[in-house]
Amino acid sequence: HDDRVEDLRERKGAAERGGGEERIEAQHDRGKLTARERIDYFLDDDTFVEIDALREHRSTNFDMEDNHVPGDGVVVGYGQVNGRRVYVFAHDFTVFGGSLGEAFAQKVCKVMDQAIENGAPIVGLNDSAGARIQEGIDSLAGYADIFHRNQQASGVVPQISAIMGPCAGGAVYSPAITDFVYMVEETSHMFITGPDVIETVTGEEVGFDELGGAKTHASESGVAHFTAADEKAAMDEIRYLLSFLPQNNVEDPPSVDSWDDPDRRDDSLVETVPDAPQKPYDMHDVIGGVLDQDSFFEVAEAFARNILTGFARLDGHAVGVVANQPRVNAGTLDIDASRKAARFVRFCDAFNIPILTFVDVPGFMPGKDQERNAIINHGAKLLYAFSEATVPLLTVITRKAYGGAYDVMASKHIGADVNYAWPTAEIAVMGPQGAVNVLYDDELESAEDVEARRQELIDEYRDAFATPYIAAKRGFVDDVLEPQETRPRLIADLELLRGKRADQPDRKHGNIPL
Ligand code: COA
Repeated sequence: HDDRVEDLRERKGAAERGGGEERIEAQHDRGKLTARERIDYFLDDDTFVEIDALREHRSTNFDMEDNHVPGDGVVVGYGQVNGRRVYVFAHDFTVFGGSLGEAFAQKVCKVMDQAIENGAPIVGLNDSAGARIQEGIDSLAGYADIFHRNQQASGVVPQISAIMGPCAGGAVYSPAITDFVYMVEETSHMFITGPDVIETVTGEEVGFDELGGAKTHASESGVAHFTAADEKAAMDEIRYLLSFLPQNNVEDPPSVDSWDDPDRRDDSLVETVPDAPQKPYDMHDVIGGVLDQDSFFEVAEAFARNILTGFARLDGHAVGVVANQPRVNAGTLDIDASRKAARFVRFCDAFNIPILTFVDVPGFMPGKDQERNAIINHGAKLLYAFSEATVPLLTVITRKAYGGAYDVMASKHIGADVNYAWPTAEIAVMGPQGAVNVLYDDELESAEDVEARRQELIDEYRDAFATPYIAAKRGFVDDVLEPQETRPRLIADLELLRGKRADQPDRKHGNIPL
């Protein structure tokens, strides 16, 4: 029997060695960890259970019958993060460049199926040269099997992708369907076609980083939600992100003991919104004053910075926060802001995370580019997302809530449960300046002192309409609150709303404008 056990150990040892010392060294020289080192670091100590360590490919093309590595280039299994079950797969770049073939794909599918069935998040650590050329269309079939499962898992269990090396061509579409994408600075790239192909086809010259590096995707395309300086930092952040999320769509997100006084009334909030309506301020200050201190964990921080999205805690309970940011483009809603917030709202709704919305929005962004690139449809996404959400929706208007953007930003009319305004709120069809120009066009033309008259009319309009009180009279906001009262009120509301039941009409699925 000893021989048999020795043989087993050897086989497993071969799986553990992956592509061998030289390639492991090369991986380290590139500033990257191996698949097993990543899993080791990511999971709680000694919790990893590997599946299919002895799996091998069946290819006979290009002498592949003589070229086998047990495990076949991907390490899969499950373990724990802060004591909670998580499924993982990690591409092993030291084996065939982490390229994906039939057996490789089936291993990934196996853990995805288990994650869906057993209701636990799935985290993919990506580092792969793409489709395994020797396996031809079996590789393409393998990718599609994974994509299909990504779609099946969407809204059932959280799916998180970390990009820790190349991720190109068809390979990008699995991460693209997942809920959150992390990229490691300098060592990771994502693109559909690389710089060489682009130059051949379009003549454009572009470098790897500029085309598909972490910074590009975090700030320009919005494909990446998070970037990290190195792999360990990325994995630390994923562990933290998971602390806000439920295991699956039928669980509630985990709560923690609050470290902040639920009755804390932050008097500085009264000063946060400036008197002058055009003066910017930082919405982070509002979030900091209302939510549990230092609990705001921003998602897609570098993308569409005119809107803030992220997870936070209110008396220890996880909430999703959506907030216009008056400091960037005056907090207007543009295409990117609408896309960013809509996807975030839908994630929260799918996973039972209440949404708290702070509103200071002068409207949608005007412009030819915006219109041609379909701000109409993209803006409608956010409207649709808030409208279909059945999780508790709590909304606080701190200053401007103008026009269609007022409706879109989780207004009472589209299903929000609790709507408040601060005394500084201006809820109106448009700002005083614009309104006066439209309404008093003729009168202003004939006025003796045009500017003096304009200012007079603006002041009149502001006093009459740029306030929260007309909305309060209609019941469009439930109350006008002194800012420092907001925190205790929202905590009480959230408690009441815990029992909220709301259903959408039966249908196959809605047709969100994409
Ligand atoms: N299929 C099979 N094996 C592949 C592969 C693929 N698509 N891509 C790389 N490999 C193998 C290499 O043959 C090499 O094997 P070896 O260690 O036995 O010599 C190993 O993976 C590492 O590749 P290498 O090219 O040495 O690494 P690199 O860091 O210099 O380059 C890439 C990495 C990903 C940029 C480069 O390998 C590449 O461009 N690969 C092709 C990508 C592609 O076109 N994929 C198909 C489209 S989805």
